[in-house]
This record gives sequence, structure tokens and C-alpha cells, in this order.
Amino acid sequence: MQYAWEGGFFLLALVACLVVIARALRSEALAMIEQDNFLAMVSHQFKTPLASLQLSLETLTLRKLTAEQTRGLTDRMLADLARMEGMVSRILESARLDRGRVELRREPLDLASTVRRATASIEERAAQAHIALRVEIDSGLEILADPLAIDVILRNLLDNALAAVIAVGGGTIVFSGRRADGNVELAVRDSGVGFRPADAGRLFDKFRRLDSGGGSYRGTGLGLYIVRRLMHLMNGRVTAESAGVGHGARFVLVWPGEPQHDHREPSWTAEAGPAPEGTPS
Ligand SMILES: Nc1ncnc2c1ncn2[C@@H]1O[C@H](COP(=O)(O)OP(=O)(O)OP(=O)(O)O)[C@@H](O)[C@H]1O
Ligand SMILES: [Mg+2]
Repeated sequence: MQYAWEGGFFLLALVACLVVIARALRSEALAMIEQDNFLAMVSHQFKTPLASLQLSLETLTLRKLTAEQTRGLTDRMLADLARMEGMVSRILESARLDRGRVELRREPLDLASTVRRATASIEERAAQAHIALRVEIDSGLEILADPLAIDVILRNLLDNALAAVIAVGGGTIVFSGRRADGNVELAVRDSGVGFRPADAGRLFDKFRRLDSGGGSYRGTGLGLYIVRRLMHLMNGRVTAESAGVGHGARFVLVWPGEPQHDHREPSWTAEAGPAPEGTPS
């Protein structure tokens, strides 16, 4: 009888060990699949601007071109390079946010001038694409935030809004700011392609890209993931809304409370790590 018990116990322990080993192997395999997808995806994203660069260079070297044609080609090459540079910095930024320590400054910033600085850099692009850009923010509205992080956040939201509006041939992008329930809210509304309301939460997942439009725009799907991570690190949040494909979109950033200048720490320090899947933004 004693042997039967011991045998049973031994078997149970063996099964438990096997389950643990199988789980470990499975998560290793999943990590490898994820890694593979990541590499495949990144390589794919680089293929288009690289192919375009190669074509432009070949044309430049093999054909006799007018000064205007040469100018057009070099402009295109510069745009391709800027696109690749943007992709590399987003990939690096999300890797930095997933690992290591992140330190963000807590600085009182005037919301209106912060937004105007970000929009100034794309005014020309917007005008060329028939996009009216408006900033409707009361002066005196302040947030407590890291200036560089805010710049990254606004630039990502602007890039997305531009792509969404360009895809429908032009329209409007409006920034509006207000105080609501003691919080400071900044909304970015565009009249672009929009998305299905059910997709609103998934947009912030890593590498998530929708097929609702974007025209020829091909991103890495990291922009909104970075936006959400940075907002969380600054104790804020971000949400997305759309009435549906073809109905534009609205992204809302919320910072809690009024900034109190005197008795706060000068920075947020957090051990970075991937945001848990499915956490509300
Ligand atoms: N303003 C918007 N209107 C409609 N869809 C949007 C808007 N902003 C984002 N999206 C959708 O959400 C997806 C994810 O956006 P995100 O910024 O994370 O990635 P991306 O723009 O595709 O690539 P990246 O920003 O890394 O270059 C986009 O591919 C697009 O489908
Ligand atoms: Mg983007």
C-alpha cells in the first residue's frame, strides 16, 4: 500500500514537472514567434522607403534630368530618409519605454504655446495637403509634464491626424483645451478616415494598425503605444473616439488636477516595463 502511495505521489510530481517545462517551452516559443513577427514587420516597413530610395538614385544616375526633375527626386529621397529615421526613433523609443528606467521631468507648461510649437512644424505640410489646422486653447491653461515627452505625444497624434485627413483628400485638424472636473483636457479632432468604435481601445496596442484607411501611409503601429506609455508615466491618460469609418476621430489627453508648483517632486521616475495588455488608457 505504501508503495502505491509513493508511486502515485511520484507520478503526480512528474506530471507537475512536465506541465511546468511545457509552459516554459511554450512561452519561449511564443517569445520567439513574437520576435520573428517583430523582425519581419520591421523589415517590411523599411522595404517601401528603401525601394523608393533605390529607384530615385538609379533614376538620378542613369538618366539625364532637368534641374526641376532632379529637385523633385532629391526631395523624395529626403522624405524617404525622414520616414526611415522616424521609424527607427519610434522603435528605439518604445524599446526604451519597455526596458530600463525612465525619468520624466515635471515642469509647468503653458498648453497653448506647447501645442502651437508642435503644429508650427507641420503647418506647411498641412497647407499643401489642404488641411486647415486650428488651435483653440485658452491662454493660462497649464499642465505639469515633461516637455520632450509632450513633444513626442503631440507629434505622434499630429502625424496620425495628418495621415487620416490626407487619406480623405483634406479637411480639418483642431486642437482644443479646457479644464474639466479639476483636470486639464486636450482634444485633437480630425475629419479624417476615422475607425470603428469597437477598435478604439486596440489602437493603443503595440504594432496595431487598422485597415480603415491611411491611404499610402505605412506606419509601424508604435506611435499610439508610445503615447499611452508616456501619458501613464506622467499620471495622465489618453482615449480615442470615432463615430465610425469616414466620420473622423478624436483623441483626448487628460492630466489630473491643477499643477501645484511648490511642493512636488521635480520628476517622475518609473521602472519602465510593457503596459499590461488591455489596461484602460
Ligand atoms: N486620427 C486617426 N484617425 C483614424 N485612424 C487612426 C488615427 N490615429 C491612429 N489611427 C489608426 O491607429 C493605428 C495605430 O496608430 P499608431 O500611431 O500607433 O501607428 P501608425 O501611425 O500606423 O505607425 P507609427 O505611428 O508607428 O508610424 C493607425 O495605423 C491607424 O490605423
Ligand atoms: Mg502613428
